[in-house]
Amino acid sequence: MKSCSNTVSKTVPKNEWHPASWQSREALQQASYPDTAELDRVVADLSRLPPITTSWEIDDLKAHIASAQRGEAFVLQGGDCAETFDECTSENIVAKLKILLQMSLVMIYGLKKPVIRVGRMAGQYAKPRSANTETRDGVTLPSFRGDLINHRGFTADERIPDPQLILRAYERSALTLNFVRSLIDGGFADLHHPEYWDLDWVSHSPAAAEYHTIVSSISDSLDFLETVSGRQFHRTQRADIYASHEGLHLHYEQAQTRFLDRRERWYNLTTHFPWIGMRTAQLDGAHIEYFRGIANPVGVKIGPGMTTQWLQGIIAALNPNNELGRLTLIHRFGAKSVEEHLPDMIRAVKEVGSPVLWVCDPMHGNTETTSDGTKTRRFENIVAELESSFKVHAAMGSHLGGVHLELTGENVTECTGGARGLTDADLARAYKSTVDPRLNYEQAMEIAMRIAGLNTGQ
Ligand code: PEP
Ligand code: CO
Repeated sequence: MKSCSNTVSKTVPKNEWHPASWQSREALQQASYPDTAELDRVVADLSRLPPITTSWEIDDLKAHIASAQRGEAFVLQGGDCAETFDECTSENIVAKLKILLQMSLVMIYGLKKPVIRVGRMAGQYAKPRSANTETRDGVTLPSFRGDLINHRGFTADERIPDPQLILRAYERSALTLNFVRSLIDGGFADLHHPEYWDLDWVSHSPAAAEYHTIVSSISDSLDFLETVSGRQFHRTQRADIYASHEGLHLHYEQAQTRFLDRRERWYNLTTHFPWIGMRTAQLDGAHIEYFRGIANPVGVKIGPGMTTQWLQGIIAALNPNNELGRLTLIHRFGAKSVEEHLPDMIRAVKEVGSPVLWVCDPMHGNTETTSDGTKTRRFENIVAELESSFKVHAAMGSHLGGVHLELTGENVTECTGGARGLTDADLARAYKSTVDPRLNYEQAMEIAMRIAGLNTGQ
């Protein structure tokens, strides 16, 4: 739908970018707010509130992504499919931090390069939906689009998009990142103390022993280096965590987009790394228009249906000056079609000669529904897509520089397979996601270990 908000200055010339210039394009997957005056008030309020991130952090991440483009680092991006307001708790945030830290430790060890940790967190509150409405027992209501937009309860009132939720999502995002930063600054992510990150391993977990061996080996190496060099590595060995979310709800993104005089550029300060989802990457659409004007590193999901021309158009729109670290392509074709489609995409990028970071999302192309209607993903398909992606890139003289996962530090049963061989019948036991199925703690660690081993020799 076209946005009804009147926050755009109507005098902006046709091709000139402005944080609200997207409003003159078709914006897919947006909520339809009945009260646009209230929406405008909220956008104005949000644009006065302090930012969630800073340009220093954003530029640091861009430099890290540039190093991953050169093959000198690897990106681990992961978290929930959607965050929820209820789950914005100390325990949940700590658990997410722990799983990302543990996985990254294993990957640093195996890949022998720095791992850049990017959480799907502190802003992942809006979801694209395959249908605008949902019907239950003959009643049809607007779809639930995430806690930033409306409520999940199935009543007409709860499904009305409420602009106040935009402010609540901003506050939850700020609280989340504030807590993450405090934990990190307080020493929680100090590589000397990986024991802080221990989650409760399920007894007899096959991965636990291997993980603990890796941890003690890393601690020993750090102690050794500090002894011989006489230097403490605490500061330099501290792990950073960056925030990312799908930049879907463009009023939210627009409100915190600021021009920074000292940098002479516009930054989206709701997050470090926003990405464009598969359903909203149309070349003439509002999302590409908004993203082209911000200085952040940005991601674009690419999957079945993407053409080489379209991809080249995206690169031209989002990175016309071939800036290093700017553009990440997150491919999610599914285990069955990655080998068929990825080579054309790699060739298209080579043809334009622009730098990109290739990241594989082995989750979203492998979603299926069980006979009783439960959404799931098979661990073996997730691993297969990752393996194929590493292979295809290597065979074409390209390289895979990161992975994008939906995961949780909890022991949920949402994806089948893995070391414990979860079956469709196990799914009902601990299925908590209201959107896409996530890897549980053990499955996520198993993926990290596979990547650590898989990629050696590259
Ligand atoms: C997602 O990352 O949750 C998502 C909706 O992905 P995609 O845009 O790739 O379908
Ligand atoms: Co998802």
